Amino acid sequence: MSKIDFDKPIDRSGTYSLKYDARQRLFGRDDAIPLWVADMDFAAPEAVTKALTARAQHPLYGYSEYPEALYQSTQEWFLRRHQWHIEAEHILICPGVVPSLHATIMALTEKHDQVIAQPPVYFPFFSAVTETQRELVLNPLQLVDDYYQINFAELAEQAAAGAKMLLLCSPHNPGGRVWSESELQQLLDIARQYQLIIVSDEIHADLVLSGQKHIPLATLADDVPMVTAVSASKTFNIAGLGMSMLIVPDNQHKKAIESVFNSWHVSAANPFSIEATVAAYRHGEQWLDELLLYLQQTYHWVQQFFAEQLPKIRILDLQSTYLLWLDCRELMLNDKQLRTFFVQQAGVAMNPGVMFGDAGSGFMRMNIAAPRAMIEQACQQIVSAWENMQ
Ligand SMILES: Cc1ncc(COP(=O)(O)O)c(C=O)c1O
Repeated sequence: MSKIDFDKPIDRSGTYSLKYDARQRLFGRDDAIPLWVADMDFAAPEAVTKALTARAQHPLYGYSEYPEALYQSTQEWFLRRHQWHIEAEHILICPGVVPSLHATIMALTEKHDQVIAQPPVYFPFFSAVTETQRELVLNPLQLVDDYYQINFAELAEQAAAGAKMLLLCSPHNPGGRVWSESELQQLLDIARQYQLIIVSDEIHADLVLSGQKHIPLATLADDVPMVTAVSASKTFNIAGLGMSMLIVPDNQHKKAIESVFNSWHVSAANPFSIEATVAAYRHGEQWLDELLLYLQQTYHWVQQFFAEQLPKIRILDLQSTYLLWLDCRELMLNDKQLRTFFVQQAGVAMNPGVMFGDAGSGFMRMNIAAPRAMIEQACQQIVSAWENMQ
């Protein structure tokens, strides 16, 4: 039986929540139901709050050192949940996945090198390449029925033509794909053949819905240069604390990435991110299992609701993440009109699909990690707004 009440609304006012407080600035209205940025409206596991409270009660908040417990709890988590044995020496603690992408690109490629991304994809993948003065090469995913698939033939051509690195999003945001073993093996074959470095962003690894299994890329090969980004941040709703890890088996690569971070003088060693990550990995498992069930039910509810009430909005199959990908192309609105419709007419703030590249045109991303009543309300507002427009 469920012990955690994910239905309970929690007032986030006064917490400087980006999701809530930036609505006026970004969407032009502060009353739109916020289903955009990827954090959850659920309380983190109680063990996390307890650990943070206990630490806050000690009144010294100076510089911190990464404790053994941080490495151990991370290793134990990935072994237990993903059957991935991570060597402690391969772990590089970082202040977030996006800065890690930048640091990795800077460390392992040269200016003007080609780096591949697979849109529609989490948009900082693009800026991580362009802001580091590398050349962005696009290998768009192909939508076949309700599934995104990788265009391996094009990827192989791009690697053969000299691309140095692939930024893989695994599981994929948006689009919710959990890549299968055979798909990952095909990627590895290409990487092996053309010395393509794979940077696998696995921040959503734990948020896998029933029937699916995330396979860490690193468990499939040790002869392909790769870097994996992981974090407890999405899994346990502690992204604001700013901590992630890179798993870098090649020691030279690890040193190179570390020296980029050192040159920036940034660190994730704040007393709160350490406590929260250790507590989450040690005591958050039951909370996560209950969360996944709740998300699964919400996803099915939304899918059925639109199938019955507004089938012109098609919900793509969600294998992972809490970010639904809504195919709105049958509404026959352009991207500007889509955004206006959802924010102004429906009063729902979501990420427009085009943010994730041209391949996202006609789509919207809906964050369903909120109490079900709020999601139901948002969906009802969308349907009513559409009916009013007809
Ligand atoms: C695929 C992916 N990578 C990275 C991030 C952000 O990571 P961080 O906050 O650690 O920079 C997100 C957040 O939504 C994400 O979806």
